[in-house]
Amino acid sequence: MSTDPLILCENLVKIYRLHQEGGGSVEVQALQGMDISVAEGEMLGIVGASGSGKSTLLNVLGGLDRPTGGRALVGKQDLGRLSPRALDEYRLKTVGFVWQQGARNLIPYLTAVENIELPLTLSGQVGKSTRPRALELLGSVGLRERIDHRLEELSGGEQQRVAVAIALANRPKLLLADEPTGELDTATAQTLYNLLRTLNKQLGLTMIIVSHDPGIAQHVDRVVAVRDGKLASETVRVQKSDSDEHHLVELAVVDAAGRLQIPREYLEQFNIRRRVQVELTEAGILLRPPEREHHSHDHIASSSNQESVKPDTLEVSSGLSKVWQSFKSRFARSSKNSNGDEK
Ligand SMILES: Nc1ncnc2c1ncn2[C@@H]1O[C@H](COP(=O)(O)OP(=O)(O)O)[C@@H](O)[C@H]1O
Ligand SMILES: [Mg+2]
Repeated sequence: MSTDPLILCENLVKIYRLHQEGGGSVEVQALQGMDISVAEGEMLGIVGASGSGKSTLLNVLGGLDRPTGGRALVGKQDLGRLSPRALDEYRLKTVGFVWQQGARNLIPYLTAVENIELPLTLSGQVGKSTRPRALELLGSVGLRERIDHRLEELSGGEQQRVAVAIALANRPKLLLADEPTGELDTATAQTLYNLLRTLNKQLGLTMIIVSHDPGIAQHVDRVVAVRDGKLASETVRVQKSDSDEHHLVELAVVDAAGRLQIPREYLEQFNIRRRVQVELTEAGILLRPPEREHHSHDHIASSSNQESVKPDTLEVSSGLSKVWQSFKSRFARSSKNSNGDEK
């Protein structure tokens, strides 16, 4: 796996405008300033609640949808700036898709091998025999014996393996899979993940796999969690210092403006609502409930609840320099006077 990014999204925004009966319209902000980079050859998992923007991100990266703002670079191509024709070409040549439903991936009245031949024919291999390449692809997903089976004659797992073969037909640089195991049982899902992992390693193919299953972390290089159209956290593998073993660590993502998302459960546990006390300690930055909100039920606490700010997005950057100043001065004072409270 190279460390050069194949994909770089900066402040990516996607807004859908829904037209309502009677003439008005509402905006849906599906991506709200997403920053993400994916290395060439990396296998990335994306998890997040329904409606958090996972499919929108894949659709933008796959050239099916245009970003409203920000940048989405894949290789040297800036997807927001490609002409419609260049975007069509990008979609055909650079990406392969695997969707959740077998029926979206496969044409039901064609056999497995014919389904794979179709994109080969469409991409201009007219006249040339597409059969050898289609058979090779079926072999690479372990389905040589299913050549003449149609959609309904294949199990769910087999349908998804044919879908992978179709997605690989045009030798894409990037494979995008939107909940490919969503309709599979656990054991079949494992087999599909193992196949994707093998292909990722064999072909050096960059992959992004959206999943509902947090267990995906076992199968990929890195997992990012999306919340409300932004990156919330990343789960990375960390090698234990005394062995070759790895363990998984979830890290909150800090965006370019210094904002981070804090899991809702943590905020609820400490009764943190709209504001938080930010303190520097020697070990790191401590966030805790402001004293007045924590101890009293007066009008300040209740009125702050009514403000329409998302409860789990805290901006810590602007206050931090002040906090740092007070930390420094407190330490300067406490070295002279151990009772150095600044109040
Ligand atoms: N074509 C569309 N038109 C309008 N709103 C959409 C469209 N696609 C997605 N959305 C909205 O954008 C948000 C993110 O959706 P989506 O990316 O499908 O989430 P996920 O895949 O994480 O479930 C949702 O609120 C969804 O309703
Ligand atoms: Mg989705």
